[in-house]
Amino acid sequence: SAAKTGLLSPNRILNIAHRGASGYAPEHTLASYQKAKELDGDYLEIDLQMTKDCTLVAMHDEDVSRTTNSDGKVSDLSLDAIEALDAGTWFNDEYPYQAESAFSQLTVPTLEEVIDTFGSEVNYYIETKTPSEEPAMVDTLLRILQKHHLVGEDVPSGKVIIQSFSKNSLLEVHQKEPSIPLIQLIHFRKKAMLTDPEVDEIKSYAVGIGANYESLSKEFVGELRNDGLLIHPYTVNEPADMKRLIDWGVTGIFTNYPDRLHDVVDGM
Ligand code: G3P
Ligand code: CA
Repeated sequence: SAAKTGLLSPNRILNIAHRGASGYAPEHTLASYQKAKELDGDYLEIDLQMTKDCTLVAMHDEDVSRTTNSDGKVSDLSLDAIEALDAGTWFNDEYPYQAESAFSQLTVPTLEEVIDTFGSEVNYYIETKTPSEEPAMVDTLLRILQKHHLVGEDVPSGKVIIQSFSKNSLLEVHQKEPSIPLIQLIHFRKKAMLTDPEVDEIKSYAVGIGANYESLSKEFVGELRNDGLLIHPYTVNEPADMKRLIDWGVTGIFTNYPDRLHDVVDGM
């Protein structure tokens, strides 16, 4: 089992609960995060969207239609309107074998509600989504993290990781709060590849990359590790894929099933 070294140790396989334990409960709800904590995920993974009145909420899509009982863009809806939505019935309809009647009572949580609920008992792996359309996103996020004492010198390194597909968003965080470790997300269309200058550029602000796992090769993972970068593939739900990626040297995995990843790691 994983040695209890620092969260960012390259010798650890971080168990990143993707949208919470979203294989078992509706993604990005308190139930999903609670399940992630129970299943001993190292991180709650949280995607951010911003409401019309500039509150950060936990949601993957820009539009509420897939994961609630309504439609419309988050950025066109007030917090009151978002908080009135049912964030769980869609899951019961789509995954009848995982359905629970209590899920129909779930709401879309604000980031602060998640932090108020779990405090410093868990670690947070937070993604700024579409930050170019929400210029206040990074400042708002940093203010919340500061208020809740989740950043700063006396906070363990890696308590909060910030990830983004947007390099500009990460650079803004790096400039304003350089102590926060950053992960550059990349979606490789084909085989994963980075030139030496690209690797150097990423290393200047980030501790690693997150990448779609299907694009990865043993060679690429090995090179990245040699370059001193962490690598966290997403989103890996099958044990055979987890095992192969760990054999190649990945340092963490985004999964909807934190228990499956624990079983794989314990069996290796
Ligand atoms: O953040 C890693 C992974 O979650 C990226 O994909 O679309 O699930 O946010 P997505
Ligand atoms: Ca994400």
